[in-house]
Amino acid sequence: MKVRTRNVLILASALMTCISTVEAQDLTMKITKKYLNLPVSHQTDRAVMTFDVGGKQERAFDIRLAPENPDYWVFCDMSALKNKEIKISYNGNKAGINKIYQADEIAGQDSMYTETNRPQIHYTQRRGWNNDPNGLLHYDGEYHLFYQHNPYERDWGNMHWGHAVSKDLIHWEELPIALYPDEHGTMFSGSAVIDYDNTSGFGKKGTPAMVAIYTADNPEKQVQCIAYSLDKGRTWTKYQGNPVIDSKAKWNSKDTRDPKVFWHKPSNKWVLVLNERDGHSIYNSDNLKDWTFESHITGFWECPELFELPVDGNKNNTKWVMYGASGTYMIGSFDGKKFTPEAGKYYYSTGSIYAAQTFTNIPESDGRRIQIGWGRISHPGMPFNGMMLLPTELSLRTTKDGVRLFSKPIKEFEQLQTKANQWSSLTADKANDLLQQYNDAGTLRIRTTIKLSHATNAGLNLFGQSLLNYDMNFNLVNGVFYSPEDMTGMEITADIILDKTSVEVFIDNGAYSYSMERRPDLKNKEGFHFWGNNIEVKNLEVYTLRSIWK
Ligand code: FRU
Repeated sequence: MKVRTRNVLILASALMTCISTVEAQDLTMKITKKYLNLPVSHQTDRAVMTFDVGGKQERAFDIRLAPENPDYWVFCDMSALKNKEIKISYNGNKAGINKIYQADEIAGQDSMYTETNRPQIHYTQRRGWNNDPNGLLHYDGEYHLFYQHNPYERDWGNMHWGHAVSKDLIHWEELPIALYPDEHGTMFSGSAVIDYDNTSGFGKKGTPAMVAIYTADNPEKQVQCIAYSLDKGRTWTKYQGNPVIDSKAKWNSKDTRDPKVFWHKPSNKWVLVLNERDGHSIYNSDNLKDWTFESHITGFWECPELFELPVDGNKNNTKWVMYGASGTYMIGSFDGKKFTPEAGKYYYSTGSIYAAQTFTNIPESDGRRIQIGWGRISHPGMPFNGMMLLPTELSLRTTKDGVRLFSKPIKEFEQLQTKANQWSSLTADKANDLLQQYNDAGTLRIRTTIKLSHATNAGLNLFGQSLLNYDMNFNLVNGVFYSPEDMTGMEITADIILDKTSVEVFIDNGAYSYSMERRPDLKNKEGFHFWGNNIEVKNLEVYTLRSIWK
């Protein structure tokens, strides 16, 4: 009897387990709404989720599916699978699979862009992770910002190309994902061009193709691929002949990535700059599909850039600038096949900036070289992470040390600002009193010039965080070597832009800039605080800033 009861119990529990695993095994549903909302927990390991339609795998990605209370929700745009019956499978802890639900709104829509740590003057994606800006391009009145994106988690992984557009480089609208991982791998960094002369044959009468050139990364290697869009980047078709460059064997290295492409008028060719192992290579093409290796220069890592700029605004005297992900650059000449360095490597910006790219096809009437960098800034407690730094205008100017790259916020940014106050010739104490009213501002722009006379060191803090620390003795600004143009002037000017989670500082009209995380958590008692023995705050301007999301 005892034995029998035990057997019955075992049977019953086996049956229960069986039923619950069947229940929590796969989820089948007909897609009737725009989004699938998925619960994420960072207490859970990543596992693979797949969407199958009619026995064919449509999507596969890593996700930390929350078995119980989610940390936050992510979403999947299901428009492409509307009215289809899909099977959702997960090879990890399936307990949360039944929490996945369809809706026409993404979970958390109500608080979108008003979350505590949501940047208000910088672009961030609604959910998930971002890194490098990709495919920066101006076309038909729109600026395109594609970017490295993990839609399913606030950490790196599952690389897709996210997409946003703007009419003024300041207000952005997030669009559906542009490039999904495919049989060649996940979508790593790259660039985009408009093929006005239809050299690729992808265009249609009256509609030139927008062509993206990107790296596909798989466990074995990194290859270069292309895709095109005929509807302003909204939908994309991958080229059948991908990959267009496969150079792992040549370099005996997996590191071959991040193609930056532009049209080189003088040689009538497409130029592609690719980071390969220990530097940047130049390739040429007539059609964006067939590429010929031309040259290689060592000394760079990841995310190549190469562009021409006038020196001091003189179009008859131009130089070429080459940099990699860190932004340290060489200045030189370029004949379409080979970059010849003449000076460098220098830095113009340090801190959280990485993998900055410049826009292609800015109208000639405008003529600016506009850059966006990835801000390696974390957003504690948020369902997203990483951000884009402010768009800046790059220029080459002659300095006492030679020609150097300058970077300053684009003029379009000023539309967000309202001048709140301006003072001149203040003592540090007086300036500190005047600034107290702004201590808790979420966003703010402060422009200031300070003059040293008795101090070797001076600066401005916010709640103990050093926004500006100028060491005239050792020639350091926030710990980095900086020698002002006027060596005997004893002055320094800083343009400080504060957002919820970041600080960007442009020194002496863009001669040097840096960015960092904002640290409200330090909360020492002093808010804004100028320091330094007997300094004069020669100029102090304060601007309040409107949110780009309103
Ligand atoms: C730079 C980088 C690129 C690569 C991408 C992957 O941050 O490592 O070289 O393409 O990120 O997300």
